[in-house]
Amino acid sequence: MRELTYLVAVSLDGRIAGPDGDFSAFPVEGDHMEWLFRDWRDTLPAVALEAMGLEADHARIDCVLMGWNTYAAGFSQGVRDPYPQHEQVVFSRRRGPADVPDGIRVVGSDPVAEVRRLKQTDGVGIWLCGGGQLAGVLADEVDRLVLKVNPFVLGDGPALFDTAYAARSFALTGSTAYGSGVVVNEYRRA
Ligand SMILES: NC(=O)c1ccc[n+]([C@@H]2O[C@H](COP(=O)([O-])OP(=O)(O)OC[C@H]3O[C@@H](n4cnc5c(N)ncnc54)[C@H](OP(=O)(O)O)[C@@H]3O)[C@@H](O)[C@H]2O)c1
Repeated sequence: MRELTYLVAVSLDGRIAGPDGDFSAFPVEGDHMEWLFRDWRDTLPAVALEAMGLEADHARIDCVLMGWNTYAAGFSQGVRDPYPQHEQVVFSRRRGPADVPDGIRVVGSDPVAEVRRLKQTDGVGIWLCGGGQLAGVLADEVDRLVLKVNPFVLGDGPALFDTAYAARSFALTGSTAYGSGVVVNEYRRA
C-alpha cells in the first residue's frame, strides 16, 4: 500500500511559515540541501528542478497533496502548476476545476477518504506538501514524518498540524544534523 509522507520545513516552535506566508527565514541553501537533492528531489517544484538541471526520479513519491493556501503560495511567482511531474491534488471547498490548470485535481470532499482511496491505488508514494490546516485534517493518516527542523523560533505563523489536541506518537527512525543548523528528523507512525 502507498504511504503518506509529510515532509516539511519547520521552525523550533512548530511553524511552517511566518504570518501571511512569509518564508524568508527558511534557508534554501546549505549542506542539508544536498540531502534533499539526493533523496527527495521530487519535492522540488518543476521550475527549481529545471533551474538546477535535475530531473524528477520518482524514487519516493509520485503524487502530491496541497491545501489551497499552499498551492496559492506559488501564485506570486506565477506558478500555477508546481509539480507537473506528479499527480497533483489540491484540497479546497471553495474552488473547482476552473481555478486550476488541466492535470491538477481539486477535491472538496473529505481529505481522509481521498487519502485512503489513493493509498489503495498503484504508485510509489504520496507526499503531503502542506500546509498546516490540511495536515491537521490528515494527522491520523500520516505514515512517515520528515521534518527539516530549522534553528529559529518564529512565534507566529501556520502550525505544523493545525488540529485539536491529541497525543499522536511517532517513532524516530533517523536524525541528521547539518552544518547549516538544520536537523532532519525522520519518523514513522508508532
Ligand atoms: N515549511 C514548509 O515546508 C511548507 C510546506 C507547505 C506549506 N507551507 C506554508 O504553509 C502555509 C499554508 O498553510 P495553511 O495551514 O494556511 O493552509 P493549507 O493547509 O495549505 O490550506 C488550507 C485550505 O485548504 C482547504 N482545506 C482545508 N481543509 C479542507 C477540507 N477538510 N476539505 C477540503 N479543503 C480543505 C481550504 O481551502 P478553501 O478555503 O479554498 O476551501 C483551506 O482554506 C503557506 O504559507 C505555505 O507557504 C510551508
